[in-house]
Amino acid sequence: NWSERYAVRRLPFARLGERDVAFFERLLPGRALTAQEEVKPFNVDWLKSVRGCSQLVLKPQTTAEVSQVLRYCYEKNLAVNPQGGNTGLVGGSVPVFDEIILSTALMNQVISFDKVSGILVCQAGCVLERLNEYVEEQGFIMPLDLGAKGSCHIGGNVATNAGGLRLLRYGSLRGTVLGLEVVLADGSVLDCLTSLRKDNTGYDLKQLFIGSEGTLGVITAVSILCPQKPKAVNVAFLGCQSFAKVLETFTTCRAMLGEILSAYEFMDEKCMELVERHLKLSSPVADSPFYVLIETSGSNSSHDEEKLNNFLEQAMASGLVTDGTVATDDKKIKRLWSLRERITEALTHEGYVYKYDISLPVGKLYDLVDDMRARLGQSAKNVVGYGHLGDGNLHLNITAESYSHSLLDAIEPFVYEWTARCSGSISAEHGLGFKKKQFIQYSKPRGAVVLMQQFKAMLDPKGILNPYKTLPSAPEWGLC
Ligand code: FAD
Ligand code: MLT
Ligand code: ZN
Repeated sequence: NWSERYAVRRLPFARLGERDVAFFERLLPGRALTAQEEVKPFNVDWLKSVRGCSQLVLKPQTTAEVSQVLRYCYEKNLAVNPQGGNTGLVGGSVPVFDEIILSTALMNQVISFDKVSGILVCQAGCVLERLNEYVEEQGFIMPLDLGAKGSCHIGGNVATNAGGLRLLRYGSLRGTVLGLEVVLADGSVLDCLTSLRKDNTGYDLKQLFIGSEGTLGVITAVSILCPQKPKAVNVAFLGCQSFAKVLETFTTCRAMLGEILSAYEFMDEKCMELVERHLKLSSPVADSPFYVLIETSGSNSSHDEEKLNNFLEQAMASGLVTDGTVATDDKKIKRLWSLRERITEALTHEGYVYKYDISLPVGKLYDLVDDMRARLGQSAKNVVGYGHLGDGNLHLNITAESYSHSLLDAIEPFVYEWTARCSGSISAEHGLGFKKKQFIQYSKPRGAVVLMQQFKAMLDPKGILNPYKTLPSAPEWGLC
């Protein structure tokens, strides 16, 4: 039982009764799931590492329905777990106990798209990949992209403030999200769904909900700024002999590619071995200790190719890079990207995955992997590093045949102490969810955590929204 593993106790919320189920069945006919087989997949996270025991999944289609659901739950003191595509990696998307699951799966309508400004307004349950296809038809792209695009919902992306593969170029959702509609814990609707680039009228309330992981309100609609679809995209996949060379290649490519650089990702040789073995992908370059994926996006293909070729010539001539390949056509571009994007999936074939998502000064990014490897020795099956190097974001992943408490004790709090010593962040982009909430103090001062708890108490006084997530629960942290 994983709630025992994490030593958490059920809070005194009401238990779901027959009358409650009857109410929801009347409100959402055919969309209140209670059959065990139907409810089961909503109780387990993507990593299959945490599991709840909810007996009810609700699938509203409109904001008014979400509002009625929450008003009822608030009155009856029933806890609620908002859920999008259930691809979250920190145990935030599934219940801990019997919380009602409020799924946005049927809130999947585009509300409007302005072809002049590129502003998209849609319901929170739209799948990211579908949205990207929709705006691509009109000459735009979504400002974010991630390996989970085929399942994750835009509302879930906003709720986790997902970073992903395009952040280097288009920035975080804190800049591209222009407005939100949110249903608060008591069922009231907060309409901040504006589509303005500039709006300095009072506090920017939407920011509070971006990255709040379902603890402050249910996001029901999103207004987001989409960039123009670039006319020319190139991808280079390169091999480097050391991490120092990965860093120097980054500095060189930033200087030589300038405004057309749109991604700089890295992975180590172990990651390559795993995607080859488990996903049958093949490496396009000679075996190397490190690999780098560089993407350029611009408006003039010959100009961009010339720049990229000049950079590659220099990188090869100076020995920064020992082998490489370039793709300009869509098919090969996708093939190269999948080597990097599908590491997460390949790792799950190795058994239990301990995932760490760390922001660090870029020069120190791989030191943590080396130190962890030395510390764990044979007790871990794999210790791998990959991530969004251009954003200073390391994904440190450790695998073992199965979950082991002693291995966890060897990893934590060592990994958090190491990160705090470098003034890094213990969650760069995945959030805190259930698994990391007790470690928030490694990245935030006490005063900041107390203020967060005050916001939570103000917006959700009964604490019904995604309890046991994001904020620490120990009594020494005050309000909770
Ligand atoms: P869920 O997993 O369903 O939920 C995540 C959290 O948001 C939960 O706390 C939930 O309660 C809350 N939530 C969901 N919807 C709402 C809503 N409408 N209102 C309020 N709260 C809500 N993340 C990155 O940042 N960068 C990556 O590159 C990246 N790559 C990934 C690749 C893979 C293969 C996988 C499996 C995950 C990846 N992730 C990445 C993790 C990332 O957090 C999610 O993929 C995504 O942002 C979550 O969206 P979702 O709809 O699946 O949300
Ligand atoms: C990624 O960058 O691949 C994602 O954040 C998922 C992961 O960390 O495995
Ligand atoms: Zn990532």
